[in-house]
Amino acid sequence: MAKVVSVVGNRPQYVKAAPLCVALAAHATVVGVDTGQHYDPELSQIFYDELGIAPPEHRLAVGSGTHAEMTARILERIEPVLIAEAPDWCVVYGDTNSTLAATLAAAKLGIPIAHVEAGLRSFDRSMPEEVNRVVTDGLSTELFCPSQTSADNLAAEGIVNGVSIVGDVMADAARLFGPIAERSTAVTDLGLTAGDYVLATIHRDANTRQPALGRLVAALSALDCDVVLPLHPRTAAALEREGLAFAGRVRVIPPVGYLEFTALLRGARLLLTDSGGAQKEAYFHAVPCVTLRDRTEWVETVGAGANVLVGDDAAAIVAAVADPPSPAAWPALYGDGHAAERIASALFG
Ligand code: UD1
Ligand code: UDP
Repeated sequence: MAKVVSVVGNRPQYVKAAPLCVALAAHATVVGVDTGQHYDPELSQIFYDELGIAPPEHRLAVGSGTHAEMTARILERIEPVLIAEAPDWCVVYGDTNSTLAATLAAAKLGIPIAHVEAGLRSFDRSMPEEVNRVVTDGLSTELFCPSQTSADNLAAEGIVNGVSIVGDVMADAARLFGPIAERSTAVTDLGLTAGDYVLATIHRDANTRQPALGRLVAALSALDCDVVLPLHPRTAAALEREGLAFAGRVRVIPPVGYLEFTALLRGARLLLTDSGGAQKEAYFHAVPCVTLRDRTEWVETVGAGANVLVGDDAAAIVAAVADPPSPAAWPALYGDGHAAERIASALFG
């Protein structure tokens, strides 16, 4: 039987891998590798538990570090795994250091690489993820794009072979797990009323450094509405380092699992975020999004009038929360929620 090595290691990658590994398992033996880039249970194990992901065969336990340290540790530890497993495909997801390192190791071993979420670009190379995207796409054999825009981005870089538009596996996850999230009591557990609060997330590199972090703390703390902020550990560390704290009506809670997050999102009046994945999920669940960045890779959500970019500008944040995006319709932008089956068929059909 054919064999696939699926490499995860960060919170959003579990969400992407969950539907795809099920679809791949119909065609091939799926061997899971977890780099351990994320290791806190609420950023890693909870996703295995909630999304029914099989425990990984290989845990690389690389932990945190500088970009070079993390990438180097993954490279060193994944190479013997890839040699021993000798898979037909190495599947990588998104744009993290785990994606980059797995891609580099597989490419040097001549193992074909399938990149899920290919072709995304912010056109900002100061963003670590943009570097990871460009290198990963340059080395991938099959490039699975969520939309026409991402395929066009690849074509503009001269990458046309192996490119297919399949939709977004996060739409698959929303389709599959959204109904289960309906059973979550996360909203009422926090004493909140659906439609009456803002959900927020902040973790992007640029937003966890000054002056952006201080501006965001001030802007969110000044909002005249309840704000729930499941805090990414990177942001928690940055607040501590800078001696900053959210105030006003911001309720800081620990990171929550996918089902709780989905429930909080579906109940929110709007999402305030710098997350890539959460921007899309807001769209899937028809929740307006206010993005705390100057650019987005998910340009279609802005084009559809469902997402607005406000950066770290306090006045723009307050104005967008008071008058959030309100599109007339929410047409499917990233496929029909069956991207995983298309990817599996493309690799093994
Ligand atoms: C990483 C990805 C980012 C992705 C995000 C998803 C890269 C370059 N960045 O960012 O693209 O959007 O994951 O959440 O790959 N930490 C903990 N516990 C953990 C993990 C991290 O406390 O389990 C803290 C550590 O202080 C660490 C910091 O968070 O130094 C940053 O972690 P890192 O994995 O470098 O980047 P993320 O911000 O999580
Ligand atoms: N998410 C979660 N709990 C949280 C915050 C986010 O389960 O407290 C999920 C969210 O539903 C989405 C993913 O994590 O599927 C997004 O990950 P993140 O924002 O960390 O990374 P990005 O998408 O920006 O790379």
